[in-house]
Amino acid sequence: MDPRLRLGPGYPRPDLDHRQVEQELLAAGWTRCGIGDWAIALLSPDGTTVARISPFDPAGPYVAAVYREASHTRQVPQLFAHQRLTGGGDFQLMERLEPVHEDEAAAFHDAIAARAPEVADLVDVVRRVHGKAQSELPWCGPLDDNPDNVMRTADGRLVIADLFSADGPKLYATVVSDPDLVVARIPEAERRFMTELPLANTGSWEPAVRESMRAGLAAADARSGG
Ligand SMILES: Nc1ncnc2c1ncn2[C@@H]1O[C@H](COP(=O)(O)OP(=O)(O)O)[C@@H](O)[C@H]1O
Ligand SMILES: [Mg+2]
Repeated sequence: MDPRLRLGPGYPRPDLDHRQVEQELLAAGWTRCGIGDWAIALLSPDGTTVARISPFDPAGPYVAAVYREASHTRQVPQLFAHQRLTGGGDFQLMERLEPVHEDEAAAFHDAIAARAPEVADLVDVVRRVHGKAQSELPWCGPLDDNPDNVMRTADGRLVIADLFSADGPKLYATVVSDPDLVVARIPEAERRFMTELPLANTGSWEPAVRESMRAGLAAADARSGG
């Protein structure tokens, strides 16, 4: 059975934001199973399917493109649905993955970095899509070699997930130093919740820092007439 059908075809509607989607899934019996810097993960009641929900993830469509275009390699998670959310959030519905030992993850990253024969097709897709993201996104980060992103599927495949994101350090430094530039380069509808990242790996912002970034962006929006 297509896991999407458990949520109804076409779920979620694009007029929902990341909080509404999370609330709806929790109400339907999904449970929190992961948290990173950009996204949280919720597990379906039957334990087979994971929803990755981000409040702000400009790279989400590109990562989803890698999942689709490299699906024949079986070295990326199977993607059942991808949807942009209101305000610039990102929703990915995918097969459930399990963590692997750090050594195994590091070996997979090494193979990718060396474009080893067993990952050559995967690497070609990743490089092509990442190159496109770098030319199209105002702040695009490097390939992410975090070992947490190498995981195993229920049928035993080793896969790479969450391959890259926006360049968080540079982007958020610019929010502080030059919010007008951020406002000029990223439409408001794509960054409404950019100060709501979970930041579970690097540690979340102090409330005062978050508030001053939010206020700086709001003032820059007002100056730009937005
Ligand atoms: N398909 C999945 N199956 C199980 N857990 C997942 C899945 N996708 C993400 N997670 C969990 O959610 C966390 C955050 O997701 P990830 O896509 O890595 O986002 P981030 O950009 O925040 O690192 C991961 O570290 C992992 O624990
Ligand atoms: Mg990650």
